[in-house]
Amino acid sequence: MSEPTLGCKMLDKQALASQANQDLHRVLHARSLAKPESFWAEAARAVHWDKPWDKVLDEDCAPLYSWFSGAQLNTCYNAVDRHVEQGRGMQVAIQYVSPVTDTEYGITYDELLAQVSRLAGYMHASGVKKGDRVIIYMPMIPETVYAMLACARLGAIHSVVFGGFAASELAARIEDAKPKLILSASCGIEPSGVVPYKPLLDAAITQSRHKVEQCIILNRAQYSAELVEGRDSDWQISVASAEAIACQTVAATDPLYVLYTSGTTGQPKGVVRDNGGHSVALSWSMKHIYDVGPGDTFWAASDVGWVVGHSYIVYAPLLVGATTVLFEGKPIGTPDPGIFWRTIEKYRVKSFFTAPTAIRAIKRDDPDGDFLRDVDLSCLKTLFLAGERCDPDTLHWAEERLKKPVIDHWWQTETGWPVAANLMGTAPVEVKAGSPALAVPGFQVEVVDELGEMVPTGQSGNVVIKLPLPPGALTTLWNNETRYLDSYLSMYPGFYLTGDAGYMDEEGYLYIMSRIDDIINVAGHRLSTGRFEEVLCQHEAVAEVAVIGVEDKLKGQLPLGLVVLKKGVTLSDEDLHRELIALVREHIGPVASFRLVSVIQKLPKTRSGKVLRGTMRKIADNQSYKIPATIEDPHTLDLVRNALTRMGYADALV
Ligand code: COA
Ligand code: AMP
Repeated sequence: MSEPTLGCKMLDKQALASQANQDLHRVLHARSLAKPESFWAEAARAVHWDKPWDKVLDEDCAPLYSWFSGAQLNTCYNAVDRHVEQGRGMQVAIQYVSPVTDTEYGITYDELLAQVSRLAGYMHASGVKKGDRVIIYMPMIPETVYAMLACARLGAIHSVVFGGFAASELAARIEDAKPKLILSASCGIEPSGVVPYKPLLDAAITQSRHKVEQCIILNRAQYSAELVEGRDSDWQISVASAEAIACQTVAATDPLYVLYTSGTTGQPKGVVRDNGGHSVALSWSMKHIYDVGPGDTFWAASDVGWVVGHSYIVYAPLLVGATTVLFEGKPIGTPDPGIFWRTIEKYRVKSFFTAPTAIRAIKRDDPDGDFLRDVDLSCLKTLFLAGERCDPDTLHWAEERLKKPVIDHWWQTETGWPVAANLMGTAPVEVKAGSPALAVPGFQVEVVDELGEMVPTGQSGNVVIKLPLPPGALTTLWNNETRYLDSYLSMYPGFYLTGDAGYMDEEGYLYIMSRIDDIINVAGHRLSTGRFEEVLCQHEAVAEVAVIGVEDKLKGQLPLGLVVLKKGVTLSDEDLHRELIALVREHIGPVASFRLVSVIQKLPKTRSGKVLRGTMRKIADNQSYKIPATIEDPHTLDLVRNALTRMGYADALV
C-alpha cells in the first residue's frame, strides 16, 4: 500500500519543484525585460573587456539597437588566451572525434593558442586586417575552428560556408561578402566517401564577380588538391613559418561574423553578429540554459557551417573554458547508431545537443536502444534538441532510452542563441512534449494575429519578439540594412518577426508549429523553396514550378517539386527527373536532398496569380484545408492531389 502514496508524494514534490522553478524563471525573465541594462551588465561580468562600455543598451538608432557601445574587447582573447593566462592551458579545449577518418585527439588551450595565433600571424602578414571579410569553406576539423578564432583575433569578419553547398551557393556568398581571403580544405569526408571541396572552391571563385586574390588550402591526407599558383598557399607550410600575433582589440559593436541563411528569395541573408553582445549572451546561456562551466565537456553534434556550430561548437564552450567535442561523422552509419553514446561515455560529456533528425535516425536503426546497453552515461546530465520541431514521439523515445531530461529548445540563425528553453542550469521546469518551454530572459515573445493583436492563449498566430532583441541577436543583414528592416521589423513596428507560427499555453509554454514563409527545414537544415524554384526554372523544359516541403519521417521535411512543362517537350519522364535532380544538386548542393519531382498540367493559383503552396502542402500532409475563395481553377487541386498520391504523399480521394 505504501508504494502509491510514495509515488504521489514524489509527484507532488516534482510538481512543487517545477512550480517553484517556473516562478524563478518568470522572476528572471521579468527582471531581464524591466531592467535590461542592469541584467546584461551583470551578465557582462563573465567577459574580459579591454575598455568598459559607455552604454549597455544604445537606443539612439532604434529600431536598430546596439549593446555595450563604447566598449572594446577581443572574442578570441576571451575564448582562448584568457584561459591560458588563468591556468587552463593544459586542459583539452577541443576534443576532435572523427569516425570517418578513424582519428581522435585532443587540443589543449595551450595548443589552441599556438595554432590560432600563428594562423592569425600568417593572415595578418598576408594583409588581412580588422573589418576584412574572410570566407571559411571547410569540413569538421580542428583547423576550421582555428580559422574562425584567427579571424576573431585580428578583428576580421569570418563567414563560414557549409560544405554541403554547391559551388554556386559559395559563389553567391563570395560575391556578397567580398572576402580578402578564403580558407579551405582539399576535401570533406562523408559516409559515401571523400567529397573534394577544392574543385567546388575553384568553380565558385571563377563564377563570382568578386575576384579572390588569396586562398589558404589545407591538404588533407584523403585527397590532395592542386594549388593555383600565385593565389593559393599551403596551410601547413604557411603556418609553420608564421609568427604568432596578439589579439587586436575591437569595438563591442564591430561584426565578429556574417553567417548566410536562407530567406524567402534565392539570395541568402547575411546575418551579422557583433562581438560584445555575442560573448555576453553565449556565456550567460552556457551557465543558465546548458548548465556548463569551466572544465565541463559540452558536445553540440552539428556542423560549424550552421549557427549551432558557430555558437555551441565553437564560441560558447570556449568562452566559458569548457571542452568542446568536434565530431566529424553522422549519428548513424559511422559506423553504427551507438557512436553518439560511446563518445559521450568516453569523453564524459555533461551536456549534449543535437537535432531531432539525428535521434530519429538512431531510433530507426536501433529502435530498442541496443547500442545503449553497454555504455555508462552517468556523466550525461541533459540532452538538448533544436533545429527543427521536435515531435513528441522522438522526445519520449529519447527520454525512455536515456533516462535523462530531454530538452527541446527553439531559436534561429538570426537570434544566435535560444529564444525559448528550459533553464537547466538555474530553474528546470516541467517538460511538455512538443514545446520548447518558456521564453528565455531577454526575449519578450508574443503571439499575434495579422493585425498585430495578441491572440488568446492556445490560439495560433505569428510569433514575434518585442524589440530590443537581447545581446547576441543579429544586428543587421550584411550589405543590406533595408532588407533587414523589411524582412523582420516592418510588419509589426516595435517587434521582430520570427517567421514562425505557433501558440502559447496558459503557463506561457510556447509551441512552434510551422513557418509562415517559404522556408523548409530538411534534417535541421534551413532551405528556401524559392531557391529550389529558381534553379528548377533554369531547365529548358520547365515553364513553371512550385516547390513545397512535405513531411518526412526521418528528415522532418523533404522538398517536393511540381513542374509544368513547356509545350512540345519530348523528354521522357525518367530523363526529366534525373536532369532536374542533378540541376538542384549542382546549384544548391547535396544538402538539399532533392529527389521528389512530378509533372503537373497546371499549378493551383489565386486569380491574382499567387501559387497556393500552403494548400498544396496541406494536401500532401493529409491535413484539412479550405479551398481558397480566390482560387482561379479548383480543378487544379485535384491535379495536385493525384500527382502527390502517385508519389505516396496525399491520400487518394475516395
Ligand atoms: N560536405 C559535403 N557534403 C555533405 C555535407 C558536408 N559537410 N553534409 C552533408 N552532405 C551531403 C551528404 O553526403 C548527402 O549527400 P548524398 O546525397 O550524396 O548522400 C547529402 O548532403 C545529405 O546529407 P544529410 O542531410 O547529412 O543526409 P543523409 O541522408 O546523408 O543523413 C542523417 C541523414 C539523419 C544521418 C543526417 O541528416 C543527420 O545527421 N542529421 C542531423 C542534422 C544536424 O545535426 N543538423 C544540425 C542542425 S542544428
Ligand atoms: P536555423 O536558422 O537554420 O537555425 O533555423 C531556424 C528555424 O528552425 C526556426 O525559425 C524554426 O522554424 C525551426 N526550429 C528551430 N528549432 C526549433 C524547435 N525547437 N522547434 C520548432 N522549430 C524549430
